[in-house]
Amino acid sequence: MHEDLEKIVVTAEQIDARVRALAAEISRDYAEAGELTIIAIINGALMFTADLMRHITLPVRLDCMRVSSYRDDTSPVQKPQIIDTLRLDIRDRHVLVIDDILDTGFTFERVMREIRSLRPATARFAALLEKKARRAVVAKADYVGFDIPDEFVIGYGLDFAEHYRNLPYIGVLRADCQNPPEWS
Ligand code: IMP
Ligand code: MG
Repeated sequence: MHEDLEKIVVTAEQIDARVRALAAEISRDYAEAGELTIIAIINGALMFTADLMRHITLPVRLDCMRVSSYRDDTSPVQKPQIIDTLRLDIRDRHVLVIDDILDTGFTFERVMREIRSLRPATARFAALLEKKARRAVVAKADYVGFDIPDEFVIGYGLDFAEHYRNLPYIGVLRADCQNPPEWS
């Protein structure tokens, strides 16, 4: 375990098993549609999207959307901004938006509003993690990896001030590591 962590919440093995199960479920659900357009919300959804896609058995198109949410701390911005939007045309396509975590729901709300305005055939949302306790708006993911308690987590794509995204597991950052010394 990384020395800045207080504990591990989801191990690499648990992530792998859950990602495979979700990919199988998604492949079944979209079998009739025949094709899927994945929209990854970067940077956080990078790892989850890459691993999930590898196990999806349908033809997949990929695009990314960049949304500003967290600054260099652990409190959310209430009005996330889309700072880089889609290149692909998603009109009449089956779209699955992928994020690392569904927390307050502000990102979900903003992104799904944008996606729906582009008139896809269907639009669903997948989140690796979900913190139900923090929901501030109505937001429900169609696919969820793990329901976790209200603690700030890092790893497997999730960051604190852009650090720790490369950890292969998900854990809680120690309180004394939440004041970045010389970074930012
Ligand atoms: P929401 O808009 O509050 O639902 O937050 C969604 C975004 O906030 C996610 O895409 C993450 O980038 C970030 N986020 C929320 N909770 C955490 C956390 O515990 N660790 C790291 N990032 C988080
Ligand atoms: Mg994010």
